[in-house]
Amino acid sequence: MSIRYLLAAALFAGGCVGDLTPVADDGDDDVTPDAGGGGGGGLARQMFESDVFPILAAKCGAGCHLTTSASSVPFVATAVTTAYVTTTGFDSVVGNYTQTGAAIYTKVVPGPHQGRTYTADEQMKISAWLAQEVTERSGGGTGDPPPTEETPAQATARLISEWSGCLKLEDFTALNFGPSWANKGSNQGNCEQCHSTGAYGFKAADDNTGMYETLSTNKYYMMAYFAVDISDLANAKMVPNYTNFQRVGLRQVPHQEHPSFNTNLNDNAMQKLQQLYDLTMGYKAAGTCGPARIPM
Ligand code: HEC
Repeated sequence: MSIRYLLAAALFAGGCVGDLTPVADDGDDDVTPDAGGGGGGGLARQMFESDVFPILAAKCGAGCHLTTSASSVPFVATAVTTAYVTTTGFDSVVGNYTQTGAAIYTKVVPGPHQGRTYTADEQMKISAWLAQEVTERSGGGTGDPPPTEETPAQATARLISEWSGCLKLEDFTALNFGPSWANKGSNQGNCEQCHSTGAYGFKAADDNTGMYETLSTNKYYMMAYFAVDISDLANAKMVPNYTNFQRVGLRQVPHQEHPSFNTNLNDNAMQKLQQLYDLTMGYKAAGTCGPARIPM
């Protein structure tokens, strides 16, 4: 286990703590192909490695987001060979790869994020790479929808915004959603031990109201639990983000050192997620959602 996890259990806040001294990687670089389904093998990966990784290494790695980081989402590898699987393995960073659904873009544009700004050329390289990911991951095609239709980014922004108004506090309370996730076990303690304040892009707090407030007003935390599926753009929809939990809980790359946890769909917390999803979809279908809490 790396020091990251030892520290994670002891840290309260999820800010970037630059003066912690992490130990070196354990050299355990067993890289398997992206398990995230679809895409990510060809041109997009090349674009990431040649155009995007140098930007991340220079601007995001230093101090905060290296894989050796003790406190923030460690999505920047120390070498290009493992860079792609590392960055694309963090749902909180890449989301669904659109300009509205990927924090890697929304943190950069308009910026600044943690005092760092990005040139027009850097923004262009990141957006070109993301566009290629969307194309490859939505089953080919040119990636250019007919002009009258929503783009993947527009559909993502719309669905997130709608969802923010459809989530209801009474459902979080009735389902006991917060405590169910906070007290979900792993082989190194309950989720709340490391994630109660939202560290590492994931929040699990023993507090239904707090969880409702965070998930319905902050899209990064919302998207750890719910993902925007644009694989069929004409029918883009919100889905429970089981993929995120499976990747992390089954310790797939780059989460090999994460505590393992039960990812079966009949697990209590996973069932609560499904129930919250079903209720929320019900309001959407019935047209009984509240006003959006996250603007488009
Ligand atoms: C001992 C501390 C610890 C515990 C306990 C823990 N985590 Fe984590 N978690 C981390 C760290 C550190 C990271 C970032 C590194 C990584 O992803 O492996 C992380 C990352 C994650 C991510 C990835 C978020 C992203 O940025 O994309 C998810 C999802 C997650 N954890 C879910 C859980 C769940 C669910 C539980 C409880 C079943 C849990 N974690 C328990 C320390 C912990």
